[in-house]
Formats: sequence, C-alpha cells, structure tokens
Amino acid sequence: MPAKIVAGNWKMNGLHGSLNELIAISIAAKNLNCTTVICPPATLVWAAAQTQDIISVGGQDCHDKAIGAYTGEISAGMLADSGAKYVIVGHSERRSEYGETNSLVKRKATIAQASDLTPIICVGETLDERKAGRAIEIVLRDLTASVPGVSDFIVAYEPIWAIGTGLIPSIHDITEIHDALRNLLTDRFNLAGEKISLLYGGSVKSSNATEIFACINVNGALVGGASLTARDFIPIMHSLSNS
Ligand code: 13P
Repeated sequence: MPAKIVAGNWKMNGLHGSLNELIAISIAAKNLNCTTVICPPATLVWAAAQTQDIISVGGQDCHDKAIGAYTGEISAGMLADSGAKYVIVGHSERRSEYGETNSLVKRKATIAQASDLTPIICVGETLDERKAGRAIEIVLRDLTASVPGVSDFIVAYEPIWAIGTGLIPSIHDITEIHDALRNLLTDRFNLAGEKISLLYGGSVKSSNATEIFACINVNGALVGGASLTARDFIPIMHSLSNS
C-alpha cells in the first residue's frame, strides 16, 4: 500500500511566529496513522526542522542544478542540508507564473532524489481543459513528461481551478483522474508504481477531506490555505489517519 501523506504547502506565508502552528501540528501528528509534512517558505525550513522531529519538513521548489551562479535560487542539496526531506516541484503556480515546463520539472525531481529529498510532483488541468473533456489527457501527458526514471516520488493532482477557490471536482472526477494516474505509474514502474502515494490538492478542508480520502487511489492531500493553522489542518490529518 502507498504511504498515507498529508502535506501542507504554506506558499509565501509564514514568519517565525508561525512555528507555533507547526509545533501544535507536530504534537497532534504524534499518534496518527499517516505521515505529516509541512512545506514552509525556505526561510523557515531550518528552524521548522529544528523545532520538532515528529513531522517532516519540505521545500516548495528547488533549482535543477546542484550549485552555481543562480542569484536568489535554492538547490535541493541546500534544502536537504537545512533538514528538509521533501520538495514540491512543478506546482501550478510555478508552471504558470515562472514558465516551468515538464522537462524542467523532471530535472528538478531528478536532482531532488539525488539530494535525498522525495519530490512531490504536481500536475493539474485548467478549467478550460476540464470543460473541454481533456483533464485526463492533460494530467497524463504532464505526469509522463515530469516523472524521473526512479519511482521514489509522490504525485499531487491539483486541478488549477480548484486551488484557493473553494471548488473541488466531483468525487467521481477525482476518482477517475487518480485511477488513471495509478494505471500510468504501474505501467511505467510495475509493482513500484503501486506504492507511489497519490495526493489530491485544491481546496481541501476538514469539511470535504473524509469523502476525498475515501477514494481508492487517493493516498492523502496537498493542502494550501487550510494548512496555515493547526486549527484547520489537524482535522484534515485526523481524517486521513482514520481513512
Ligand atoms: P488550497 O488548499 O489553498 O486550495 O491550495 C492548494 C495548493 O495549491 C497546495 O499546493
């Protein structure tokens, strides 16, 4: 069975005071039947990893090179050196606002693995693509071109139109996409493909988490807004643990 994972993506939110939320989240995570990951802004990765050892810490992005003259960038090795165990790559905000392509995402995932980080590879369709009946085609196309050669990664299906909007696809549509992702991964990686965790992301809240986690090939969630406070995130962690 794939590991059950609930990951919080804090995006460009969080100052040192936010570590109090992280500590509260880590206390709640202690006896749960799932892995909890928080991806704070890079400025907090080191401190977050120092504050506790129950949950794991992740980066939100990394460069595709190990080292060099890339002002402002952060390498996968630097994140690992700061205590991160995971890194999100190919988030739709990176793809749309910074022009990241599937081949760049694949290089980032590959260097993350080489740096002992588990990449969380994101794919998802736009609303126009969903309306045109192309959602499955788009996510399979993007995942095929974004995954590295080794199966040690996590996939997050995040429909772009569901991010931060309060909208989610129907349970039928989530199931359909996740089943298609699982088939692609088992075709590509055989038995190892059955063990890759598939997360759903986009407006996950305590009110919808239980029905989303009931889908057979949903192994957890990548959560944005509702991961910023322990009050909102802990019930989602409980839903996954109990699923
Ligand atoms: P929201 O949970 O705020 O919709 O964000 C989802 C997301 O983009 C996580 O990476």
